[in-house]
Amino acid sequence: MGCSRRERRRDENPPVGTVPVNYEPYTIALLDTVAANALQNPLTATGDVLEAGRKYYNTFCVVCHGVNGDGRGYIVPKFTMPPSLLSEKLLAWPDGRIYHTVSMGQGLMPNYRQQVPADKRWAIIHYVRALQRAALPLPEDSLAMKQGHFSFLDDEPDTAKPVLWPKR
Ligand code: HEC
Repeated sequence: MGCSRRERRRDENPPVGTVPVNYEPYTIALLDTVAANALQNPLTATGDVLEAGRKYYNTFCVVCHGVNGDGRGYIVPKFTMPPSLLSEKLLAWPDGRIYHTVSMGQGLMPNYRQQVPADKRWAIIHYVRALQRAALPLPEDSLAMKQGHFSFLDDEPDTAKPVLWPKR
């Protein structure tokens, strides 16, 4: 039995205009930073979104970029230390540019298009913003930390152990 050559060829070529399940086209070219900068984060930074961002950051990014985003992930120095996500440069980058970097990869960093769906990548960007704000608190943040006797930097996961994330 077995399928004929003609059928096999048809399998290899999905019908025009269709996309395989789970494939999200990303159309901005690697060097098109103008288009990347213009992308808007479609998500609002609600508690749930930040929690999802934290979960995905701590799954896919933490190994290199570190729990605080400072670039001291536990793979360093076996792997080249990545630049800090708390830099002036990253503070100035629009969300879209960070999203583009995660979607396309950059230099030694692979892209996360396949592993992390688009909405989760956007949630990660919100979480990176939260890490930046924790490292560089606004005056009202400093006041809240002082009054509440806590620090935004206290909330670090124990990266030595696998984290069991709550289902969402
Ligand atoms: C395997 C290690 C590794 C992982 C995992 C990783 N990165 Fe990176 N990342 C790097 C390195 C190395 C660079 C510097 C790349 C270069 O420019 O050569 C980088 C660069 C970046 C930059 C640009 C920084 C700049 O100053 O140019 C951003 C933004 C970034 N990563 C975000 C992320 C996010 C968000 C994740 C998780 C989805 C992630 N990275 C996962 C290693 C990693």
